[in-house]
Amino acid sequence: MVTGTCFAETGNNVVCIDINEEKVAQLKAGKSPIYEPGLDVLLERNIKENRITFTTNLKEGIKDAQIIFLALPTPPGKDGSADLQYVLDVAGKLSEIIDTYTVIVNKSTVPVGTAEKVTAVMLQKLDRELFDVVSNPEFLREGVAVDDFLKPDRVVIGTSSDKARKLMDELYQPFVRQGNPIYFMDERSSEMTKYAANSYLAMRISFMNEMANLCEKAGANVDMVRIGMGSDSRIGKRFLFPGVGYGGSCFPKDVQALAQTARELDYDFKLVNTVMTVNDRQKTILGKKIKEAFGNDLTGRTFAIWGLAFKPETDDIREAPALELINELLAAGAQVRAFDPEAMENVKRITGDKVYFAKDQYDATTDVDALVIVTEWSEFRNPDFDRINEALKNPVIFDGRNVFSLEKMQELGFYYESIGRTTVHQHLRERIEVSHEEPVRERGVLD
Ligand SMILES: NC(=O)c1ccc[n+]([C@@H]2O[C@H](COP(=O)([O-])OP(=O)(O)OC[C@H]3O[C@@H](n4cnc5c(N)ncnc54)[C@H](O)[C@@H]3O)[C@@H](O)[C@H]2O)c1
Repeated sequence: MVTGTCFAETGNNVVCIDINEEKVAQLKAGKSPIYEPGLDVLLERNIKENRITFTTNLKEGIKDAQIIFLALPTPPGKDGSADLQYVLDVAGKLSEIIDTYTVIVNKSTVPVGTAEKVTAVMLQKLDRELFDVVSNPEFLREGVAVDDFLKPDRVVIGTSSDKARKLMDELYQPFVRQGNPIYFMDERSSEMTKYAANSYLAMRISFMNEMANLCEKAGANVDMVRIGMGSDSRIGKRFLFPGVGYGGSCFPKDVQALAQTARELDYDFKLVNTVMTVNDRQKTILGKKIKEAFGNDLTGRTFAIWGLAFKPETDDIREAPALELINELLAAGAQVRAFDPEAMENVKRITGDKVYFAKDQYDATTDVDALVIVTEWSEFRNPDFDRINEALKNPVIFDGRNVFSLEKMQELGFYYESIGRTTVHQHLRERIEVSHEEPVRERGVLD
């Protein structure tokens, strides 16, 4: 969606092809099937200008195409490797239709060696002069995908063909006018670059999550540590925020796929394996904290969850930590009142009526034992604490994203557990577990 729309935005004629008829029908009606800031406006403009169209018909769709981008799913297979069936299947179909020189671009995240595999499939039906296969990994971030695509830090293109290189260079020039580089390299290095980038970022998150867990034990504040270390220019400030583990459609599957590539090449990539173990543990951290406070049996308890998407500004819930937490709470007998600005419909399709989907963030907090923050949407940062306090059965907050300052929570009187920081109003703890009978709210605090 983002790739197609942004290429149309720079004046190209784009045809988006998908086998999902519902999505195509929705797009033909001018509606984006995903929530992504800024995408709607661009989509509307380019549909109006007739630069972008949609079809389920592959043959019709690629009729005049000079370049075909494969942005197909590459989900993890049983062994964790990226499943290439969608990519290779479409390559086979294309090899039967293409009749003039066309560049096939692997935009999907695919393991090292895939450009060669796609080439081999194409060659079964098509002359070598009629196509080139290029690797062009995508580095955009969901939530800011349009901005990232229009102004990429860099564009990476893996090709050994001069003809393909020239076409790709022309296509991407409008996106690098501010001087950001296009790096041309061989296909294998380009494919590996994507996995290196995502696995490294996942490793930074896991490192900070471990640091946070240690800070909690040591009585240090991980937010201070983060600022202190991040200002070192060798380290950098970004991607050092501890939380409830990474999720989404990319990091979990890409780290797994890199681990599998290493196994296939008989290399014991210890760091990458550990990143996965650390993340699995971190995803359980809120559930663990809640059970430590309320006991393992949560029958009769109700929890408000703020944030379901795997990160803010998206409706994507693939591998979202909130889903695991919801399962754990329900399994322990609790009830859940959830709110997310964009992702509730998607979660509802999985959980059905087992979860109450709130009308707004305050409705979620009505008469619950604690508020649990899982995704740091902006609107959660400065809420009306009086309303929250009135709505909650007890003034208890578990914050998986360190959204609030410890000082504020101290001042307001909430029992407040976050990630890698000391618990505020710890003295209320003993009374939380028995709070079925006896409210932990104190006279004078929070009034
Ligand atoms: N989502 C991201 O932020 C992101 C970022 C970088 C790279 N990527 C990579 O891009 C690829 C696609 O990711 P996504 O998040 O857009 O996935 P997605 O599942 O949202 O979209 C893939 C689309 O492909 C369609 N499809 C499946 N088989 C098809 C076929 N035979 N012909 C035509 N269409 C078909 C599906 O219906 C679906 O709409 C993945 O490899 C992913 O790793 C994604």
